[in-house]
Amino acid sequence: MRLGHRVSARPSLCSARPRQYTDPTVRRYLHKTARCNGAGGALFAHRDTPSNNPDTPFEFTAENHQRIEVIIGNYPEGHKAAAVIPVLDLAQRQHGWLPISAMNKVAEVLEMPAMRVYEVATFYTMYNRKPVGKYHIQICTTTPCMLRDSDSILEAIQKKLGIHVGETTPDHLFTLTEVECLGACVNAPMVQINDNYYEDLVPKDIESIIDDLKAGKNPNPGPRNGRLSCEPAGGLTSLTEPPKGPGFGVRADL
Ligand code: FES
Repeated sequence: MRLGHRVSARPSLCSARPRQYTDPTVRRYLHKTARCNGAGGALFAHRDTPSNNPDTPFEFTAENHQRIEVIIGNYPEGHKAAAVIPVLDLAQRQHGWLPISAMNKVAEVLEMPAMRVYEVATFYTMYNRKPVGKYHIQICTTTPCMLRDSDSILEAIQKKLGIHVGETTPDHLFTLTEVECLGACVNAPMVQINDNYYEDLVPKDIESIIDDLKAGKNPNPGPRNGRLSCEPAGGLTSLTEPPKGPGFGVRADL
């Protein structure tokens, strides 16, 4: 079968309606990738809207201008464009999301073509080209997380918040985005909420995290199953003694 047939048999990723997880017997197809969702993975094309157009007000604060100088200083002279990722991140942290005017400003301060900035901003899901809620929940559903039942976590979030992937709650408190691997597979399943990772989750964990956030609390990030960081879930099997220190095992005459 030609590849083109397989691809065309699937719905367009960007136009597919968000899948609903209300029926627990409905399982995801293994070949299904995270959908374009209107947040980080929004349509690649920009369309001017009243709140997102080249005239949308955006200017870096004086403090952030200083930060940009420091960031640029990390790269060799004449390579300002190398700072595009951290400077885009700075723009997003300042504004909450990335309107096209912010991307244009980044291009201006880094003296690079605006298109080069758009290419980066549309490639990485960390850049939100539409507004997101106060808490941006990014759930990983890539294979290791999926095998550890990230579907149950996704379903719990959707039920708890009454929204689907790509949507924001009416109070603008939570946005739910489905993303690919966030690099914490050893603690699967996990979600990222703003800058924090919540790991080793079961549905009741994510429900209590959401309750805490709604109550204005700051739930502790990290594993929820009691282990420290990414140590073996069944306890240490090696490195169980204090380190021997420098010189251990070295011949005395050396
Ligand atoms: S697969 Fe989920 S963090 Fe890597």
